[in-house]
Amino acid sequence: MPQSELPPFFSRNDAGDLLIEQVRAGEIVERFDSPTYVYSRAAIESAFNALTAAFGDRAHRICYAVKANSNIGILNVLARLGAGFDIVSYGELARVMAAGGDPGKTVFSGVGKSADEIRGALEAGIGCLNVESEAELQRIADIAAEMQQVAPISLRVNPDVDARTHPYISTGLKDNKFGVAIDEALPLYEWAHAHPALEVTGIDCHIGSQLTDVSPFRDAAERVMKLAHRLTERGITLQHLDLGGGLGIRYTDETPPAAADWIEAIRSVVDADPLARDLPIWIEPGRFIAGPAGALLTRVEYLKPGEHKSFAIVDAAMNDLMRPALYGSDMAIVPAGQGSGLGAGDRHPGTWEIVGPICETGDFLGHERELELAEGDVLAVLGAGAYGFSMASNYNTRPRAAEVLVDGRAIHEIRRREPLDSLWALEQLPTTD
Ligand code: LLP
Repeated sequence: MPQSELPPFFSRNDAGDLLIEQVRAGEIVERFDSPTYVYSRAAIESAFNALTAAFGDRAHRICYAVKANSNIGILNVLARLGAGFDIVSYGELARVMAAGGDPGKTVFSGVGKSADEIRGALEAGIGCLNVESEAELQRIADIAAEMQQVAPISLRVNPDVDARTHPYISTGLKDNKFGVAIDEALPLYEWAHAHPALEVTGIDCHIGSQLTDVSPFRDAAERVMKLAHRLTERGITLQHLDLGGGLGIRYTDETPPAAADWIEAIRSVVDADPLARDLPIWIEPGRFIAGPAGALLTRVEYLKPGEHKSFAIVDAAMNDLMRPALYGSDMAIVPAGQGSGLGAGDRHPGTWEIVGPICETGDFLGHERELELAEGDVLAVLGAGAYGFSMASNYNTRPRAAEVLVDGRAIHEIRRREPLDSLWALEQLPTTD
């Protein structure tokens, strides 16, 4: 992303300070120290509203993928907008409920749901279990029967569509572990339809994440529609189609489709088909909603210029933001600017490796960044609202960052920095005799 280009609701004032809505990034670091994640409430709402607008009068449900950013403050903002949720663990369901979200508008995805998780979800009144294998279908049927309940299910079908994204986040190819091969789904649907403890409610698919082209979405929707016809012919009536998440965002120079283009690609398939005309369409976006809304604020600890490479060692690391280390992803890193965003030392223009304090060569946030830096400067890693904090760890016994939600001029601390001793609070010295 060129330095001048900031995500919506991020801007600069006349002095060059980076603003999140109306709050200076430097002010956040003064108050909450660094590293700190900061999110714009307006950015979250506007992404959600763009999707809603694109659906127009077509029945739909936006099930926000909780894994992207599961802070209950963020979930609460989305619940207030009427969002449903896509979860992959009972823990995520518990968060949704703690945030005021509706389990009845929640779908449960994931290849490895445990018996306890299935039981918990059914007790909570889950909206739909997205089933990823024959063995899981059997387990759900057994548990629902034992609870004398009827479990609402969809099969997550694998449409064998190439999402053309990073191999670790591509999920819709037949070699991936996800879902049931679309050609093998029919007998499972018939079995489920005949089972008294199961209610077939829909078809689900999710082909991958960070897609920058709409055609795989269209191909997947077409394949799902073919299956929908075959199910209808066999007397299995559907109540929704869940077409998953995956819309990409701009980290540096990507040109992802707009919300309207994504939904239009889906609608071009489903609106044209009489079978689907009145069928609610569900989607499971995570990154598109939370990603551009967030930045990771970090301070430069040391500058270490060298003959071959120059390192700017910052106080955020791969434990705070894994995406660069894990996927080699390029995320824009910009200065927070004047005021409290600038350190007091000498300024050094150059090409910098932005690295963290962790003892691994893979611990970097960005390579070869042209920046003029001084020790003490505040930098912002942009597009960090999704898969940032939610993938953070305590590696190297580093407390996880604070999280702050900005709403206009208001600043809400939605997660305080972890106190150090909480990191070993569950540990014990071995007893010796
Ligand atoms: N639904 C299901 C079943 C999923 O597995 C995912 C993401 C989503 C929805 C949401 O996808 P999104 O709209 O956010 O692309 N940690 C990786 C991304 C992993 C995505 C996993 N599944 C990253 O940082 O790029």
